[in-house]
Amino acid sequence: MATPLNQLIQRQGTQSTKWEKYGGRDILPFWVADMDFASPDFVLQALHQRLEHPILGYSQQPDSLTKAFQGWLVHHFSWQVPEEWVVWLPGVVPGLNMAARTLANDQSIMIPTPVYYPFLEIGQNAGVEQILTPLKLVNGRWEMDIDYMCQQLAKSTKMVFIANPQNPTGRAYSLAELCALAEFIETNDLLLVSDDIHCNLIIDPAAKYQPIAHVLPEIANRTITLFAATKTYNIPGLSCAAAVIPDAQLRARFQATEKGLVSGVGPLNHIASEACFNDRSDWVSNLLTQLRTNYERLITVAGPRMSLLEATYLAWIDVRDLGLNDIDAHFESHGLGISNGKQFGLEDHIRFNFACPEAMLDEGLTRLRESLSHV
Ligand SMILES: Cc1ncc(COP(=O)(O)O)c(C=O)c1O
Repeated sequence: MATPLNQLIQRQGTQSTKWEKYGGRDILPFWVADMDFASPDFVLQALHQRLEHPILGYSQQPDSLTKAFQGWLVHHFSWQVPEEWVVWLPGVVPGLNMAARTLANDQSIMIPTPVYYPFLEIGQNAGVEQILTPLKLVNGRWEMDIDYMCQQLAKSTKMVFIANPQNPTGRAYSLAELCALAEFIETNDLLLVSDDIHCNLIIDPAAKYQPIAHVLPEIANRTITLFAATKTYNIPGLSCAAAVIPDAQLRARFQATEKGLVSGVGPLNHIASEACFNDRSDWVSNLLTQLRTNYERLITVAGPRMSLLEATYLAWIDVRDLGLNDIDAHFESHGLGISNGKQFGLEDHIRFNFACPEAMLDEGLTRLRESLSHV
């Protein structure tokens, strides 16, 4: 059936990071986390309407954006957040780095890995030591290793950074896991930064995303939770993010770090995110239907190599048995642009972005089948 989600749209010539990397070569890009689906009409219409005014000057945060965001948190997660807890940012990654800059130089941070690669730069950017603790694979699913985190904890450790849902392993942490994490945070007097940008993208209907500061309010004052609409609605080039920080002192420290470094959010980015947060249409459910179909098809090719995916459109595939010296070159030689696990902190894995129209996925899966069977 022809739907906007299986319409193939040429992106060449749009300066797309995803597509330009392999420009002029027969390599299909399944790497960076944006989707090859058109953004929804209601977002594009909001942008068109704003462009009827010819001046795109510096903009203030519209109150309507915060209201839309508050309504979205209630609608999806039944979480009522007062306006003053919300800090607007030009992206989630700036928020991660700002959080670390609230620390003193003799303090340290802890980060479970593999993880979205900008996390691995946070310590160095902020001038603090970082302790990496591997996730462990239990019955095909990646879990935080709280025992190991306890062992590795230093006196200096003050802050833990996670992504939930997790990128690249696609986990949406269960309540039991969040409870164990919350206990670890509280017992050791730590702060928690949770990057929840993929919160709407639940692929496994049995899984559930839960904002830790809401479901475990006893640690809310120790948390910074980062959200954005940009993944769900495929507008990552119009980045705009919100930090939810219940504790007033932590919020003030966080905001103080942005001075002179972090730019404001542009007017088009505001408009687009506000339209997304106000969305009550069937966009998310249609998107999830398409992503689930794509994931089922990916299983037929990469099944046993993939760890259990609950969320995101990013599959984590084990290629250890292929014994590859140069992972990128191998997959490129089969016409595939993938993300190399090494950049997330775990070698011999690849991340495969399956958020694309069926025709592109068909061709990608043919190539993937070949690449996994021929070395
Ligand atoms: C876990 C995670 N956080 C943050 C980002 C990027 O966020 P932003 O563009 O708002 O900085 C991504 C993009 O792939 C991501 O996967």
